Amino acid sequence: MYEQYPVDKKVVLVGGSSGIGRAVAQEAAAAGAHIVLASRNQQRLEEARQEILGHVEAFTMDMLDEASVATFFEQVGSLDHLVISAVADETKLGAPITQLSTANAQRGMEKFWGTFFVARAAASRMNAGGSMTFVSSVSIFNPPCPNLVGGYGGGYQLGVLGLKGITQAATYVVY
Ligand SMILES: NC(=O)c1ccc[n+]([C@@H]2O[C@H](COP(=O)([O-])OP(=O)(O)OC[C@H]3O[C@@H](n4cnc5c(N)ncnc54)[C@H](OP(=O)(O)O)[C@@H]3O)[C@@H](O)[C@H]2O)c1
Repeated sequence: MYEQYPVDKKVVLVGGSSGIGRAVAQEAAAAGAHIVLASRNQQRLEEARQEILGHVEAFTMDMLDEASVATFFEQVGSLDHLVISAVADETKLGAPITQLSTANAQRGMEKFWGTFFVARAAASRMNAGGSMTFVSSVSIFNPPCPNLVGGYGGGYQLGVLGLKGITQAATYVVY
């Protein structure tokens, strides 16, 4: 993503208040990018905004709420790079498929739907030469996926496999 340093580029991080998104935000800010953080919890978001040095804005947004996503991108305007690392409670969704509840399978797909809502809203606002990065899991490269039938993955695994599909589709649409 950063073959050239993103000086003055606007980098939007959905899930930017924690973990991977927050770390990417710190790196990009240090390289001179204009950072926009998004996640649901206002307090954690504000803590991240204050901790990251540089040009950093932060807006609450729930990627599963289409109206919230639309409002967010009206505030953001155009952008250069989008990183989506958000996902909720994935470690609670693991189960062998024979014990995977419908509710947890559907929750696992939140990762797919949130990515779809955000990518769709962002696509028409991307500047030329921009990029979208969807943070997923290395397990998508190891089909057949043992986690889905055997252990940890469960509902989450359905979500990341859906994400692989949307990434392949978006590759041909976003440039
Ligand atoms: N960490 C690992 O070891 C690891 C390994 C493999 C894959 N991954 C993948 O990497 C990604 C990021 O992991 P992480 O460890 O950085 O996670 P994390 O620290 O839990 O961060 C998740 C971020 O997403 C936000 N978020 C959750 N639901 C959201 C929603 N509906 N709308 C907007 N923001 C939302 C959270 O803030 P709020 O709760 O305030 O919204 C938080 O900022 C995940 O997708 C995970 O599948 C991680």
